[in-house]
Amino acid sequence: MPTHTTLVWDLPTRLFHWLLAGAVAGAVITAKIGGNAMLWHGRLGLFIVGLLGFRLVWGVLGSHTARFARFVRGPAAIRAYLRGHWHGIGHNPLGALSVVAMLLVLCAQAASGLVANDDIAFNGPLYAAVSKELSDALTGWHRRGEWAVLILIGLHLAAVLFYTVVKKEPLLRPMLTGRKPVARPQPATERGGVRALILALAAAGALVWLANGGLLPPPPPPAALDTPAW
Ligand code: HEM
Ligand code: HEM
Repeated sequence: MPTHTTLVWDLPTRLFHWLLAGAVAGAVITAKIGGNAMLWHGRLGLFIVGLLGFRLVWGVLGSHTARFARFVRGPAAIRAYLRGHWHGIGHNPLGALSVVAMLLVLCAQAASGLVANDDIAFNGPLYAAVSKELSDALTGWHRRGEWAVLILIGLHLAAVLFYTVVKKEPLLRPMLTGRKPVARPQPATERGGVRALILALAAAGALVWLANGGLLPPPPPPAALDTPAW
């Protein structure tokens, strides 16, 4: 019976997770509504770009359990996990695959959205940086990418449910409170620190600026209208 708890997910990782879940849900819903909601689709999309940028840097400089180098493991570690020989905290070697897949698919979805166009009124903020042909091709991938996103989220939720109900290992509470029950006291996990947090936030801000066309030349002013005679 576990009598101790240990910090498994730091606050930045938890905030990242729940903001990402909300923003992705919002991006899918606004894409379904279409029309004026596409304006919000673009805003949520840019927010997702920032979140992903933050997570990529936090995955290098952040707390122990957030670091890719710690949780992304090879086939031997996955086999050992499946044989019941893994007792770490954080993402297990198998779950890590789905985390990486979700992050990669969301990066591709966000990148293609930045140059996408709907042939009517709404373009991604970097549309002007590519040819119409490339934008059309990537718009096709952006539409198809929705399925990859939805399938991975479905698998993700099914895995959380499976661990909670079948393996009696509740994962949801640690993703909310950060703490997880453990049998023995654990040494404190290495924390990311304020400097790493500032760097990750700055990188996210810079990425959003670039993604929003920060380096593109300003659009030409609208053609002057002929002054009516009256
Ligand atoms: C759009 C929806 C969602 C997306 C895109 C998403 C994405 C992710 C990602 C990327 C991670 C890895 C966290 C990290 O290391 O940064 C993660 C972990 C996790 N997510 Fe979600 N998530 C979504 C919805 C949910 C929901 C609704 C729940 C709760 C029912 C949930 C529960 C969890 C849990 C418990 C973990 C930690 C898993 C573990 O212990 O290894 N997620 N999710
Ligand atoms: C990562 C999360 C995203 C998801 C899940 C997503 C999903 C979708 C879906 C499903 C559509 C198709 C709507 C339809 O025609 O039925 C769409 C269209 C579009 N999205 Fe995204 N999107 C995401 C991010 C972005 C980003 C970052 C941008 C740019 C800022 C963006 C810009 C666009 C544009 C311009 C369209 C219109 C293209 C068209 O008519 O198909 N999206 N998105």
